[in-house]
Amino acid sequence: MIVLILLGLALPVSNLIAKPDNSGRLTGLTPDAAPVVAILEAKCVVCHTEGAALPFYANFPIAKGILERDIQHALRFLDMGAQAPDSEVALAKLERVVESGAMPPANYKMMHWDGALSDEEKSTVLDWIRKVRAERYATGAASPEHAASPIQPLVAPEGLDPEVVALGKKLFHDVRLSGDDTVSCASCHGLDTGGCDRLQFSKGIGGQVGGINAPTVYDAGPIVAQFWDGRAADLAEQAGGPVENPIEMGAKWPEVVERLKQDAEYAAAFEKLFPDGLTRENVQKAIGVFEETLVTTGSKFDAWLMGDEDALAAEEQEGYRLFLENACATCHVGKILGGQSFELMGRALDYFADRGDLTEADAGRANFTKNDADRHKFKVPTLRNIALTWPYFHDGSTSDLAEAVQTMAKYENGTVLSDADTAKIVAFLKTLTGKYEGQLLK
Ligand code: HEC
Ligand code: HEC
Ligand code: HEC
Repeated sequence: MIVLILLGLALPVSNLIAKPDNSGRLTGLTPDAAPVVAILEAKCVVCHTEGAALPFYANFPIAKGILERDIQHALRFLDMGAQAPDSEVALAKLERVVESGAMPPANYKMMHWDGALSDEEKSTVLDWIRKVRAERYATGAASPEHAASPIQPLVAPEGLDPEVVALGKKLFHDVRLSGDDTVSCASCHGLDTGGCDRLQFSKGIGGQVGGINAPTVYDAGPIVAQFWDGRAADLAEQAGGPVENPIEMGAKWPEVVERLKQDAEYAAAFEKLFPDGLTRENVQKAIGVFEETLVTTGSKFDAWLMGDEDALAAEEQEGYRLFLENACATCHVGKILGGQSFELMGRALDYFADRGDLTEADAGRANFTKNDADRHKFKVPTLRNIALTWPYFHDGSTSDLAEAVQTMAKYENGTVLSDADTAKIVAFLKTLTGKYEGQLLK
């Protein structure tokens, strides 16, 4: 007994003396982040980067097992090597745990008496987070009260050539982009059906059914990389994919370009707007520019962020508070509430084991990167207009928004949301419906 107590005291004390050196593990941050980097390297990277130097008790069999399990779990939530601490998502994740004092975990602090963040360290980190957010990510449209909020109001795009936009819009609705003149982009991304098709899996050429849910094209511009697995860098590149996809539009680009050239109006428009006229690349560019205009400003929530106190009812405001409290805004962050990162579907609990029937699409980002660490990671979808873009998730597994919210809490956080709290979050989510061409989307 006494031996155990002595050992219990000796281990933490020895951690004060023999500290593992993890300095230099976080790279690529601007010099003004140096004090924050020092704090994270001293107190966090041991669990939140791969292959960090471990405290010496990790040499003991049982302790090693516990620590390694913690590290594997921590990396599922935030890998500071893969996701830079100054990214919009990491800032939101850090802000939440530093404010609440949730990190480092209690069992770690028991072994490391100096492991907790001091008040001074907390302010150093929080001040830096707000400064970086204001400088790099704020859209400048929020009222002073919400200027440092993790979610920012949308702003209308500027400087896009209206003639290119009109051309892109026409192409987007043109069935001649498909092999048999039956399918256009709008068939699966109807602008009057939330920018998607409201089917679990899309129907393409010849009635063929795909294996993944169609995301909305509204507010897709700011997404870091298009598609659930991020295989296209931007909208213009993305527009090249569906045309030749055999089960979507089933065409060949050279034939599409030839067919469009037969149309004198197209030929003239391309001749006027692009130096090299009607080419595959310019078709994609025009569609991409049109999609840049699909920004749904004018939602109730944005009005509230911009200072209209009465824009949100009490229940909707309470829903937003719960949305923040439940870490939803750590992944669904920024002006489109998502689109910034690839995250594990089921970081806390195994979603796929519970759902069953694994498909190829379920591998997520790993299908593109071929990296096993990206298995089951998906681009975080936007929550703008979420009340209109059912069914939800890459597998379109539910059309019930309340159920989608509870699924998120369960599998991303390992928590159960009460029906009452869920209803409030749903009420908040409904305020994210915005306008296109001056009309509230339906
Ligand atoms: C002993 C290992 C360990 C240390 C040290 C540690 N963490 Fe964690 N961290 C975890 C684990 C495990 C999780 C997974 C969630 C949980 O268990 O609460 C996690 C989760 C997180 C998350 C994600 C929370 C969310 O809901 O998105 C953040 C952010 C985080 N840690 C930041 C930090 C910071 C900042 C520090 C240093 C002050 C730190 N961690 C130190 C183990 C650790
Ligand atoms: C047959 C239905 C179908 C057609 C036709 C179609 N899409 Fe899609 N679209 C989808 C599906 C399904 C996905 C998701 C695929 C994936 O992530 O692997 C998608 C993804 C996208 C995305 C990515 C959005 C995001 O959140 O990552 C954009 C943008 C998009 N489509 C635009 C277009 C354009 C432009 C066209 C016409 C050139 C088009 N789509 C034609 C079904 C379709
Ligand atoms: C760890 C990051 C993360 C957290 C935390 C998180 N989400 Fe998600 N969310 C995702 C990812 C990734 C998806 C897509 C998963 C998929 O399709 O398999 C998603 C999908 C959704 C969808 C469906 C969107 C669509 O268009 O299909 C809703 C609704 C949603 N989340 C709401 C929430 C709410 C509410 C919370 C808080 C309780 C939350 N999320 C917390 C990452 C996260």
